[in-house]
Amino acid sequence: MATIEAKSATLPPGSRLPSVVQTFLFLVARRQTHRYLRRRFGETFTTRIAGRRLVVTLTRPEHIRTVFAGTPTIYHAGAGNAILAPVMGEHSVLVTDENEHQRTRKLLMPAFNGAALRGYGDLMAELAATDADGWPTGRAFAVHPRMNAVTLEIILRVVFGLGEGDRLTELRPRLRRISDIGPLTVLGWSYPRLRRFGRWRRNFENLQSVDRLLYAEIADRRRVGDLADRGDVLSRLLTAGGGDLTDEEVRDQMITLLLAGHETTATALAWSFHELARRPDIQRLAQRAADDGDEEYLQAVAKEAMRRRPVIQNVARMLTRPTEVAGYHLPAGTIVGPSISLVHQDATLHDDPDDFRPDRFIGKQPESGTWIPFGGGVRRCLGAGFSLQEAAAVLREVLTRYDLTPERAKPEFPKPRNITLTPSRGGRVIATPR
Ligand code: HEM
Repeated sequence: MATIEAKSATLPPGSRLPSVVQTFLFLVARRQTHRYLRRRFGETFTTRIAGRRLVVTLTRPEHIRTVFAGTPTIYHAGAGNAILAPVMGEHSVLVTDENEHQRTRKLLMPAFNGAALRGYGDLMAELAATDADGWPTGRAFAVHPRMNAVTLEIILRVVFGLGEGDRLTELRPRLRRISDIGPLTVLGWSYPRLRRFGRWRRNFENLQSVDRLLYAEIADRRRVGDLADRGDVLSRLLTAGGGDLTDEEVRDQMITLLLAGHETTATALAWSFHELARRPDIQRLAQRAADDGDEEYLQAVAKEAMRRRPVIQNVARMLTRPTEVAGYHLPAGTIVGPSISLVHQDATLHDDPDDFRPDRFIGKQPESGTWIPFGGGVRRCLGAGFSLQEAAAVLREVLTRYDLTPERAKPEFPKPRNITLTPSRGGRVIATPR
């Protein structure tokens, strides 16, 4: 994938609809629109959104691999996430690029490596068990809100390292409100003048209260004598690199981990239960794995749910220079977007892609570029291992206790909610004690 200086731009084929119509379709019906464009224009296509910005969608693994392996100074991911900066903060690992991104990511990584994850296992299992004990039985309910509550609790306790107490009680509902980010709320982040009114004022005041509580927690935590022995992500971050992150930098990463890690994992779990409830044969295998503590199979259930029902539809990189991608000479400023949804549904890459088959992931890794729920390269999701371990813990605690049936046989459809695609009715199931 060479950088080109002198060649003139060539663009993949794409829709000729006005940019404003394409933007609307991108916001409200991206999945269906992308499927149509893939059929109509082929494996690589162009759309124009938000003031004529060029977005080139990629669906071939070989092209996606080269984008993920591309030079970080050319392929900017942070720039594409800039809309999140007002809440995540300017230092967030998600919104920065190049040196600042590399430095922060390096400081965060030890908190997500294998040894650190093993240390989180017991607390994850305990919190998952407490939730599973409280599942309603014999009547239909939506799993997604429950999963949102349990993944928030895991972030608060394992990532923020908060113990029971006033600060946790005060932060819990406020953090829940922060992650409820509808498109209207996001508008207020980009137009600060709106913060004087209604929902935007409440949203802004909530964020200020969260900041006050978080800065107080950071100050208290810096003073504890046993910081180096504490295992939670916040404590690790305060000691990382000799503790050279400022309070503001630490705050930005914590809010980022909350927003990136909470609803995403909840959604993957809601889809896992949605699928298992409709496939008694697979559910029996998963229950046996839960009884035997077979973590590989339980993780495979979550992986297959993420393949069949992607939590996030695509990732994005903005080109800082004219660059050749997928055989086209693209101008600087173009967004290249590997499409998670289209790759996961491609019958040339996945046998019978509509079938829910966790054993695709047993004893083998998917070929590179064909299973990309966590993106890739230097921007690959930092919490991928964390979320799979967490998903397996929740699945284990639920499946050892209950049989699941769907409220209705008809599958729910993927509906945009915040940054994810959730089951349209929240994943309604009926749990019966085993
Ligand atoms: C099923 C659950 C999850 C899914 C589907 C998911 C998906 C993603 C995706 C698609 C990206 C962008 C990758 C790219 O641009 O190549 C990402 C980035 C990120 N995720 Fe996740 N994520 C999940 C859970 C988590 C969790 C649990 C955490 C942390 C507790 C987390 C933290 C992050 C961070 C910090 C980044 C930014 C990485 C960077 O820019 O260097 N995610 N995630």
